[in-house]
Amino acid sequence: MRTVDILNVALANRSYPILIGADLLGRADLFAARCAARDILIVSNTTVAPLYLPRLAASLAGRRAIEVTLPDGEAHKTLANMARVLDVLVANRFARDCAVVALGGGVVGDLAGFVAATYQRGVTFVQVPTTLLAQVDSAVGGKTGVNHPGGKNLIGAFHQPTLVVSDTTTLATLPARELRAGLAEVIKYGLICDAVLFGWLEAHLEPLLAGDPAALAHVIRRSCEIKTAVVARDEREAGERALLNLGHTFGHALEAATSYKEWLHGEAVGAGLVMAADMSHDIGLLPAAEAARVRTLVERVGLPTRFEGLAPQALRDHMRLDKKVQDGQLRLVLLRRIGEAFLTADYPAAALTRTLARHCGGAA
Ligand code: NAD
Ligand code: GLY
Repeated sequence: MRTVDILNVALANRSYPILIGADLLGRADLFAARCAARDILIVSNTTVAPLYLPRLAASLAGRRAIEVTLPDGEAHKTLANMARVLDVLVANRFARDCAVVALGGGVVGDLAGFVAATYQRGVTFVQVPTTLLAQVDSAVGGKTGVNHPGGKNLIGAFHQPTLVVSDTTTLATLPARELRAGLAEVIKYGLICDAVLFGWLEAHLEPLLAGDPAALAHVIRRSCEIKTAVVARDEREAGERALLNLGHTFGHALEAATSYKEWLHGEAVGAGLVMAADMSHDIGLLPAAEAARVRTLVERVGLPTRFEGLAPQALRDHMRLDKKVQDGQLRLVLLRRIGEAFLTADYPAAALTRTLARHCGGAA
């Protein structure tokens, strides 16, 4: 039997394991040992369900497993679809001891997690992430939610899973564009607190982009180590956890300004990382050579950093709804150097204006 890498998220009586490894979907023993619920609702989507739902359902054989397959895409991460999933739980008279299992990327995971957070005031939740982005980020840490037309992830709750099963074999079917988008979140971890990881990405990008299992397992493990350590110290984002949003204030604004239709989340984050690095250099913090390394790595991953036809003001308007706004002040995560990020509201407004102007309208 293949080995399973186990990482514990230390949250007192809500601690849980992240299992990382190949061919885990078919491991009934792993699910049996860590999820006892007899009634299970599996939430997936029209792309992932045909690929992986039969294998997962076989591992849950002997229980009452009901499946909900949502349409694919960020545009479907809505309250309406959440209500649809809740309706299925109610129609099937699922009790409080049921479990909701998310099989898919971050969209399915966030929505299913919010369902689990709210049904009967909270039921067991299991994450089975199938994108790189979800395996390195969204499936871990308990942020759940849906989008509102007025902003991304505006409605949600903290609800930790009881188990995360990251089957790295599922990444073999992931489109290349999605793999690249997931790498943006990995670069983010390096920038926030691990210059060694950033250097490793620079040196091993080719095997990663080719989907080399060992290289992917390495970045999944390291990303989860970093994220779980931050979450264990600051589960509800009173402080340090906000650093995990490096690049996201710019990125979320890009996604919202283009109605979630043009940019994948990871692509928008990649561009946001370059903007955060650029602004950090603009205000005299990040050395020019390090800002250039950030841009070069994001570009080598194949992520877009230019965006045509967007007015800086449009991005600024969307940034006002960012969850890091406090007392009307937009706080940003910026960089002192690669491997050291910090949260601040203390920056010249003109620097933000300049950064937006430099990146909008194609003048990257
Ligand atoms: P996604 O869920 O839309 O998945 C990307 C695409 O890949 C989809 O078309 C999906 O159907 C497809 N797919 C998934 N697994 C596949 C596989 N193994 N083979 C083939 N196709 C597959 O997007 P994502 O990038 O995984 O997640 C983005 C979402 O995650 C955003 O909504 C973002 O807000 C959220 N997010 C949440 C957190 C958090 O902490 N909760 C963190 C980061 C991002
Ligand atoms: N992706 C940011 C967080 O989980 O806090």
